[in-house]
Amino acid sequence: MKTKGAKTAVQPGKCLVTGGAGFIGSHVAEALLRAGHKVVCLDNLAGGFQENAPRGALFIRGDINDGNLLVEQFKKIRFDYVFHFGAFAAEGLSHFIREFTFRNNQCGTATLIDAAVNSGSVRAFVFASSAAVYGKAPGKLSERIAPEPCDPYGISKRASELDIQTANQFFGLPFIIFRLHNVYGERQNLADPYRNVVGIFLRQLLAGKRLSIIGDGKQTRQFTHVSTIANVIASAIGVKQAFGEIINLGAGKSYTILELARKCSKAAGSPFDPDFLPPRDEAPHPVCSHIKARKLFGDKMVDLPLETGLQRMFQWASTVAPMVLKPGPSLEIAQGFPEHWKNLLRSTQKLLESPKPQFEGLANEQRRREFGDTRRLP
Ligand SMILES: NC(=O)c1ccc[n+]([C@@H]2O[C@H](COP(=O)([O-])OP(=O)(O)OC[C@H]3O[C@@H](n4cnc5c(N)ncnc54)[C@H](O)[C@@H]3O)[C@@H](O)[C@H]2O)c1
Repeated sequence: MKTKGAKTAVQPGKCLVTGGAGFIGSHVAEALLRAGHKVVCLDNLAGGFQENAPRGALFIRGDINDGNLLVEQFKKIRFDYVFHFGAFAAEGLSHFIREFTFRNNQCGTATLIDAAVNSGSVRAFVFASSAAVYGKAPGKLSERIAPEPCDPYGISKRASELDIQTANQFFGLPFIIFRLHNVYGERQNLADPYRNVVGIFLRQLLAGKRLSIIGDGKQTRQFTHVSTIANVIASAIGVKQAFGEIINLGAGKSYTILELARKCSKAAGSPFDPDFLPPRDEAPHPVCSHIKARKLFGDKMVDLPLETGLQRMFQWASTVAPMVLKPGPSLEIAQGFPEHWKNLLRSTQKLLESPKPQFEGLANEQRRREFGDTRRLP
C-alpha cells in the first residue's frame, strides 16, 4: 500500500504518550523529555503505576476509550505527536478475555485515531504493535510476510495497524508502526503472572521460589532490553523514511527459556531450580528480522547484552517494594484456562471469584469516574 508522507521534520513538540505510566511508554516518555519535547502521559492505571510516569511529564489518569476526554485534551493541548502504548497486553490470556481485548485495545485505538484526525494537529501517530501479529508463521519474520495472528491480542494489534493505515489513506494521518517483541527491563510490572517471562522469573527468584518453565523450556525468544528500543522509538519522528512504515524492533539474538532461566538465576546469585509446567500452544521459535530497522535507524540500534540487561533489571527489582496483582477484567471463557493460572487466581482471589466484571459495560462517564480525573504530577 502506498502511504502519504510525513508533513514535517522533527522539532520539539507536544507529545501524548498513552500507556505512559506503563513499562515501555514511561521509558519512551523519558526519552522524549530528554530530547526537549513536552510530554503528557495518559494512562488508566489498569496495568501501570503513576510513579512510572516521568517527572516533568503531565500525568492524566484516563482511558483511551473515553472519547470526550480525548477531544477535550486534544483541543486544549493540540498534540504534535501521539505515541500509543496504552493496551491490555496479555497475549495468552487474551483467548479468555477476547471481547475485553478488542474493546480495550482495538476500539481504544480507533477512539484515539478519531481524536488525532479531528484535531488536525498531529504530525506523527506512532503505534506499539507486536510480533504477535505473525502468529505461528515459520522462518524469519520480516515485515513483508502476511500476518496471521492466532490470538485476540495479535488480532487486535493487526486490526489497529490496518485502521491506522486506513486513516493515513483517507485522512493523511502520518504514522510509524513498530512491531515489538519480548521487551524486558526496569519498571516492568513484576506482579503480572500472565506475561513477561523475565519479570516472572525475577519475581520468583526474589520470593525464593522455583522458576516455572512452560513445557521443556527449549522454545526460543529474542529478549529485548527496553533501552534498546526506547530511544529508537522516541527519535523515529525525525526519520522521514520511517513514516508510513511497519517496522520490527527488538534484539537480534535468540535464547531458549532454559538459558534465560539460568541467566536470571545467575543475576540473582541463586541456584538454578526449575519447575516444569505443561506445555501450551505457542510459537516455538519466532525470529524477527531487523534488517529494515537497522537500515532506518542505523547506529541508534544498540542491543544491550542479555546478561547486562538482566543484571540491571534485577538490581532495580530488588530495590522496589513487591508489586501487587491488580484486579483485571473478568474471564469471559473459563474453558481451557490453564491449571497453573487457576491455582494462582484461587490463591489471589482476584479474577475467578470476582462477582462482576471489572470493566464490563462501563459507559465512558462511568469509566472516567472509576479510573479518576486528570491531575498533575507534583
Ligand atoms: N512488553 C512487550 O514485550 C511488548 C511486546 C510487543 C508489544 N508491546 C506493546 O507495547 C505497549 C506497552 O506494553 P508494556 O509492556 O509497557 O505494557 P504495560 O502494561 O506496562 O503498559 C501498558 C499501559 O497501558 C495502560 N492502559 C491499558 N489500557 C488502557 C486504556 N484503555 N486507557 C489508557 N491506558 C491504558 C496500562 O495501565 C499500562 O500502564 C502495549 O501496547 C503492548 O501491546 C509490548
